[in-house]
Amino acid sequence: MKIVAVHSVKGGVGKTTTATNLAAAAARDDSRVLLWDLDPQAGATWLLGADGDPTPSSANPKDLRKGKKGAQRPPVREVVIGEGEARRAVVATEHGFDVLPADASNRHLEVALAAAKRTRKRLAEAVSPLAKHYDLVVLDSPPSSSALAASVIRAADLVVLPVPPAGLALRSVEQVRMLLEESKHPPALLAFLTMVDRRKAEHREAVAELPRSIPEMADVVVPSSVAVERMGTQRAPVFAVAPRSPAALAYLRVWDVARLRLAPQVRSKYH
Ligand SMILES: Nc1ncnc2c1ncn2[C@@H]1O[C@H](COP(=O)(O)OP(=O)(O)OP(=O)(O)O)[C@@H](O)[C@H]1O
Ligand SMILES: [Mg+2]
Repeated sequence: MKIVAVHSVKGGVGKTTTATNLAAAAARDDSRVLLWDLDPQAGATWLLGADGDPTPSSANPKDLRKGKKGAQRPPVREVVIGEGEARRAVVATEHGFDVLPADASNRHLEVALAAAKRTRKRLAEAVSPLAKHYDLVVLDSPPSSSALAASVIRAADLVVLPVPPAGLALRSVEQVRMLLEESKHPPALLAFLTMVDRRKAEHREAVAELPRSIPEMADVVVPSSVAVERMGTQRAPVFAVAPRSPAALAYLRVWDVARLRLAPQVRSKYH
């Protein structure tokens, strides 16, 4: 099982959009995929219709699948600090992968992790029993550089960083690089440009320059796209909204590059 964390210290850069589309792209390869929504804003949970009363996943234990009396999904906060089983919290989506949805307890993850012993290792420990059930776990994390971010980075094999081509683009790559360097086992980093509008000179310059000057930056550009905006109204990955759109094709390429960056470890953990 491989773990890909979509992370940035910046908000609103396309992390949830990316996490959702990467999970959907990987599921198209017949991989067993779980998207874990760690953000209290619950954007991925909402996009995937996993709020309310979602369908149990086949990865759930039998009592939950059959809706037996007393069988309950544990709050995410308990799962993260090792007091609840991750598998019991997952639900199915219509898009070929499962989601571990955010709930009200996601607001307390930072505090719970900061108070726990072995903060950094907690998430990795919570995820590892899922290896029997999934080939890939995608973590959608909130924008931060604190306890949850450290735990996400410790768990990840690869950190994926979406970068809008604004003036602060370089800075956001440096900030995530620094976070990774603080980790004892730094994961690989894959940055890519997103929300690119080629009518703007500044965006065209970024597309020409940044992949050359930033070694972690993939040569893939996700355009600013109406298809991506419609993910919010149709509540589905871009492949369900507009499968042949330039944005959908770009996200397939992001997944291709991610898979390649995971490749050195692939043989042992991912198949
Ligand atoms: N390529 C794109 N084209 C057009 N709109 C986009 C694109 N990518 C993301 N967006 C829009 O930008 C907004 C922010 O995206 P998203 O929620 O994925 O960012 P985020 O980094 O997860 O935000 P947060 O930090 O709040 O969790 C959303 O409304 C989304 O639809
Ligand atoms: Mg988000």
